[in-house]
Amino acid sequence: MTRPRNDTLLRALRREPTEYTPLWLMRQAGRYLPEYCATRSRAGSFLTLCKNPALACEVTLQPLERFPLDAAILFSDILTVPDAMGLGLYFTDGEGPRFERPLRDEAAIRALTAPDPDGPLRYVLDAVAEIRRALSGSVPLIGFSGSPFTLACYMVEGGGSPDFRHLKTMMFARPDLLHRILEVTADAVSAYLNAQISAGAQVVQIFDTWGGMLSPHAYREFSLAYMSRVIAALRREQDGERVPVIVFTKGGGQWLEEIALCGADAVGLDWMTDIADARRRVGDRVALQGNLDPSALFGSEDAIVREANRVLDAFGPHPGHVFNLGHGISRHSEPEKVKILVDAVHRHRHAL
Ligand code: CP3
Repeated sequence: MTRPRNDTLLRALRREPTEYTPLWLMRQAGRYLPEYCATRSRAGSFLTLCKNPALACEVTLQPLERFPLDAAILFSDILTVPDAMGLGLYFTDGEGPRFERPLRDEAAIRALTAPDPDGPLRYVLDAVAEIRRALSGSVPLIGFSGSPFTLACYMVEGGGSPDFRHLKTMMFARPDLLHRILEVTADAVSAYLNAQISAGAQVVQIFDTWGGMLSPHAYREFSLAYMSRVIAALRREQDGERVPVIVFTKGGGQWLEEIALCGADAVGLDWMTDIADARRRVGDRVALQGNLDPSALFGSEDAIVREANRVLDAFGPHPGHVFNLGHGISRHSEPEKVKILVDAVHRHRHAL
């Protein structure tokens, strides 16, 4: 694997010096882009986009055609893994993702097995390979998975939830069953990420969207422990290049010191943590990614530039920062505002 021509992201993740702070945006390919909505309506549904490698490739590239972003992220979803485990993923308008067969009874949980990524997830690997060809060495491609805990939330609940009552009931009433789900899912995620790396992903990110709703000891036991297990099982080199791993626990700011020890190269921050404090707390153990409030994109042009500079100045002139939003970009963001943000980050230079 040759390094991409723009390897700024890879260098920042290795905490090597860069000329400017590289950036990409969580959910950079999505409904705020009219061209995405056009492709999606042509395809018929979001899942068709995910399952068709040519369409997944097309929408992956859309934000890069508009903005000089420093990375592409595979267009897919974290819930493809439980779908491949037989839970039957579908999307309803306005309600988000649902599973036909949520994991509620012991027999189904005992029968759960990790899918061979080369089988029911082949379409994702084909998309990775197709995107790499289309990028033709311009910027690196980020692959991803959900964390075992975040996937378990959706698997047990059967969809999104304000309180994840079924998941939490299982956690307190039958922790053994939740551990069984997490073990199988951690194996599935490890195999899936390794397959993405073999297919061409040059960085991988683990999205732990729901770990932050746990108490500190529960976070350690049910989320962080399984992410550490996944990371330990990853093949971190491809063709002589290190494949950096980013972990992102939304709401995990209070546990940064521990997260920084899980084996990842970089830790993602939401916007509720001050990135200057975060840097002091993790020292030079990991790079940091984040942490602009996605709502800043609703502000005026001046406000966007000021807020971006605030994050960049707070991190300071040290290697090891990847600029990003603190969570996915809102569907209500305007592409013109995103352009202002990308240009502001690329223009910023640290005062010496
Ligand atoms: O960042 C990217 O551009 C890559 C693509 C990506 C998507 N989902 C596309 C998507 C990634 C990395 C994800 C991750 C994901 N999916 C997470 C973790 C990150 C996070 O947001 O916390 C979660 C929890 C999911 C599950 C999921 N998928 C939900 C809850 C929803 C509905 C939310 C919504 O905005 O309606 C999805 C659908 C989804 N995944 C969309 C996109 C672009 C919108 C689908 C559409 O209607 O076109």
